[in-house]
Amino acid sequence: MSKNIVVLISGSGSNLQAIIDAVTNGRINGRIAAVFSNKADAYGLQRARKAGIHTVAINHQNFVDRLSFDQAMIAEIDRHQPDLVVLAGFMRILTPQFVRHYEGRLFNIHPSLLPKYKGLHTHQRALEAGDQHHGCTVHFVTEELDGGPLAVQGRVSIDKEDTVESLQQKVHRVEHQIYPLAVEWFCADRLKWTPEGIELDQRRLPAEGYQLSNG
Ligand code: GAR
Repeated sequence: MSKNIVVLISGSGSNLQAIIDAVTNGRINGRIAAVFSNKADAYGLQRARKAGIHTVAINHQNFVDRLSFDQAMIAEIDRHQPDLVVLAGFMRILTPQFVRHYEGRLFNIHPSLLPKYKGLHTHQRALEAGDQHHGCTVHFVTEELDGGPLAVQGRVSIDKEDTVESLQQKVHRVEHQIYPLAVEWFCADRLKWTPEGIELDQRRLPAEGYQLSNG
């Protein structure tokens, strides 16, 4: 059965766009029921409207604390009965209550080869460490920031000439491959978080997740 997807963004929404495109061309067996942003001027909201998707902006600054914001978000998100909630550049730390509510159906994308470089400034940190590879990860969200089980990773090589900007662009291109792929597999009931771990087609994935080969 076709799945209901809700996407949360804070900014440009280029990953949202990649997922919209994969829904539009029929690759993902689902529909994006709504796109939420904590910022009313996020460019991603325009992308959603252009695709005819319902949008909701909820300003976190209007709430006294993190939990009341998250509770308001849960109430609004659940009106859309989501099978999958996708964090696509949603730059807010979520409460344990929010995470538990959507456990097993909450994805995040992070611009590093997790478990390396949780948190911010990942491209700079990979460059400063002299790493030869960098990349991005789609993972299921748990209460630990950037710490949930890994679903899909894509790698890029770091060249001598790379800067934070060039590396960010390289990683973004791979994000736009791995995020629609993870959503496609989830919506096809192929990718699951089970008590035994993350499974793709009933086979347990290694801890680093499925590795996209051409990344
Ligand atoms: C992406 O690079 C994503 O990995 C990152 O925000 C960017 C959003 O871009 N997410 C995080 O850093 C989460 N910790 P987009 O708005 O163009 O999709």
